[in-house]
Amino acid sequence: MRVFVTGATGFIGSAIVPELINAGHQVLGMARSDEGARRLTGAGAQVHRGNLEDVDSLRSGAAKADGVIHLAFDHDFSNFAGNCEKDRRAIEALGAGLAGSNRPLIITSGTGMGNAVPGQPATEDFFNTKQPNPRSSSELAGAAVSATGVNVSVVRLPQVHNTVKQGLITHAIAVAREEGVSAYIGDGSNRWPAAHVLDVARLYRLGLEKQEAGSRYHAVAEEGVPVRAIAEVIGRGLKVPVVAISEDEAAAHFGWLAPFAAMDLPASSAQTQKRLGWHPTGPGLIADLEQMRWKEQAK
Ligand SMILES: NC(=O)c1ccc[n+]([C@@H]2O[C@H](COP(=O)([O-])OP(=O)(O)OC[C@H]3O[C@@H](n4cnc5c(N)ncnc54)[C@H](OP(=O)(O)O)[C@@H]3O)[C@@H](O)[C@H]2O)c1
Repeated sequence: MRVFVTGATGFIGSAIVPELINAGHQVLGMARSDEGARRLTGAGAQVHRGNLEDVDSLRSGAAKADGVIHLAFDHDFSNFAGNCEKDRRAIEALGAGLAGSNRPLIITSGTGMGNAVPGQPATEDFFNTKQPNPRSSSELAGAAVSATGVNVSVVRLPQVHNTVKQGLITHAIAVAREEGVSAYIGDGSNRWPAAHVLDVARLYRLGLEKQEAGSRYHAVAEEGVPVRAIAEVIGRGLKVPVVAISEDEAAAHFGWLAPFAAMDLPASSAQTQKRLGWHPTGPGLIADLEQMRWKEQAK
């Protein structure tokens, strides 16, 4: 397949590009800068210049492809709701490029969208429409696009990691470095699910090849790593004290990260593993954090 990949230059996209090429697909990667275009060419992909603000560039990229994987997202968390809205418009534009073709479009969401009962793992068959997280607009846009004759499926992500980047944990590390303490809220027993970036890349490819319209996949290798264990490994790595803070103190310590730091987000991938024959092989989140080069990260 010729696959249009938005966010191809990002952390997860950079793992998906070789995963697709090694499986015999062609990649048309979106780049918004010369540097991004150079990196994509070096990785063996073709380049489509465009960006999230230019919906025509998204539509035309999708129209040139046999399938689309959409990963690009503006991670300026000071404007998270606005960026979720931008994602909705981007998904609609990609859908417009594929409308009526039944070609596959994989969009990206978070496992938190499937959490229904506090303490119970999120599952693939559930979408919490009462969910306060504005990122729910991505899945809602996907559903609207599927009604226009596009084969839409959703990959929901946990904290995706290697030894360099670890999703929101990368931001938690920056906070701990800045504040001189690694904190968790309450007893730190709330959990974040996780998966290694190479396992995640394989899942996107399998989902694209399966072309099962309406599927939701959970790229989850570890159902829930306690946040306290994450704070402890950060404390060891940065050589700073590990402290418990109250919910009232969280905003002052964590800033925009505070609501996420408090969340208990266990998630299952049992249905995904069965449907795609996807079996994550790791390494695990704590193992990757233990292998981080903490001093280099500071530079
Ligand atoms: N990493 C995780 O743990 C995690 C967890 C949950 C969900 N997700 C979701 O997974 C997807 C990929 O995440 P990631 O970790 O790979 O993100 P990332 O490393 O921050 O990469 C973001 C990608 O989006 C592109 N991008 C950002 N703003 C853009 C704009 N205005 N126009 C065009 N391209 C733009 C970036 O291009 P440049 O290279 O030019 O900057 C880059 O290719 C996102 O939807 C993210 O929200 C990730």
